[in-house]
Amino acid sequence: MNSRAHSHNIKWACSCLGSARGVLIAFRGGRFCAEFLSLTDILVKRGHLIAGLTLCLAIAGIAIAQTAPSPALAPEKAARLTFTAAQVENGKAEYSSRCIDCHGANLNDGEFGGPPLKGEAFREKWFDQPSSTLIGFTQAAMPPDAPGRLSLDAYVEIVAYILSNNGVAASDRPAPANMDALGALNIEADAVAR
Ligand code: HEC
Repeated sequence: MNSRAHSHNIKWACSCLGSARGVLIAFRGGRFCAEFLSLTDILVKRGHLIAGLTLCLAIAGIAIAQTAPSPALAPEKAARLTFTAAQVENGKAEYSSRCIDCHGANLNDGEFGGPPLKGEAFREKWFDQPSSTLIGFTQAAMPPDAPGRLSLDAYVEIVAYILSNNGVAASDRPAPANMDALGALNIEADAVAR
């Protein structure tokens, strides 16, 4: 066989390997091979057919490995917001100094026009949504005379306190003080809401 024939065989082997896993892979494999064909030509001209073929196989292998499908991801279900008893305690203290006048000691008995922060209507409005919605609103609007005055930590803790008053039990996993993370955590009712 002359070197032109060797080269032809290698080209054929490459495109064959490349097409083994479909058009896309054939394209990529072929492209990889094309990039290295001049190198294989040189090797072939020197009579190193085996080396040329090995190189081509290696390139086709890389092309296939690169296009191998990634493992299927399970459909994402939004995780549930959890918070600790310590967060509820801190939240209660913050609430008592910053929010209690308008929203009341029982969260539904405020004196200065604050709407109830517990009960069916409240849960209807804020549950089954990302916790960042309620926490974001609270941070952006409360207290009305100084919205955003508290740290995000404090808002998260106050909301933990509010949620515990809506029947969500504390757990051993703290709520994160990070709006992006909160956006991935839904507020959900426990089986029995008070
Ligand atoms: C000066 C009175 C006042 C204070 C203090 C106050 N709020 Fe409010 N709050 C209101 C009023 C009035 C509304 C209704 C306004 C609205 O929905 O835009 C409200 C609405 C809310 C809501 C939304 C309720 C709903 O179901 O729509 C939340 C949550 C809330 N406040 C939390 C807080 C927290 C937490 C604090 C303390 C950091 C606080 N508020 C302090 C008056 C107050």
